[in-house]
Amino acid sequence: MASPPRPVLSDEALDLILREARTPVAWTDEPVDPAIVREIFETAKYGPTMMNSLPLRLTVVQSPRARADLLDLMSPVNKELVATAPLVAIVSADRDFHETFAITWPHDPAARDKFPDHEQRGHLARMNATLQLAYLIIAARAHGLDIVPMTGYSSTRIPPRFLGDGDEDLIAVVALGHADDAATRPRDPRLPFERVVRFA
Ligand SMILES: Cc1cc2nc3c(=O)[nH]c(=O)nc-3n(C[C@H](O)[C@H](O)[C@H](O)COP(=O)(O)O)c2cc1C
Repeated sequence: MASPPRPVLSDEALDLILREARTPVAWTDEPVDPAIVREIFETAKYGPTMMNSLPLRLTVVQSPRARADLLDLMSPVNKELVATAPLVAIVSADRDFHETFAITWPHDPAARDKFPDHEQRGHLARMNATLQLAYLIIAARAHGLDIVPMTGYSSTRIPPRFLGDGDEDLIAVVALGHADDAATRPRDPRLPFERVVRFA
């Protein structure tokens, strides 16, 4: 029997999360309640990852000292955006994702032991955490915030405490707030369907 038709997002919702959403280049002074991080997380966590491995970790930068340390490693072009953002966080990928399979993949007790190779785990962790970063971007927009992911930094200078206590690789720094639309330049063109999609 066919499943009942699923609802689809309205044009307004599609515009909000992707079609009209822009990456901020400056912020308004409207504050952001840090509690929104939990709301964004509770939405983004449902995005799919390999074997529900969920390797993304998020370090919310809270103290002025931590913000200063982060600023230190950002590229000159990103310093202002990070310094003025209402909320900043570090996205990393946990290579020890296999240690939580008992929680996240409970129907397969052998899952943990299928990933003995540290390098392979690093590759899988980075790939899946990067996917989760995309879910985080969409979720932040869906919850009414603007977000900029940044990879313009010196990753070798990242303080270990920004990468948790485990075995984590840096994926991106994200800044969240409300965009100052007046500062945003016109949207850069996207590649057209014909250039991107092929049928084999
Ligand atoms: C992985 C990644 C890294 C990025 N790094 C930076 C960065 O270091 N600094 C910056 O200002 N924007 C950065 N961006 C933002 C992109 O330049 C921006 O999203 C893209 O040009 C599309 O802009 P639009 O969303 O306004 O159309 C990054 C985006 C991604 C996804």
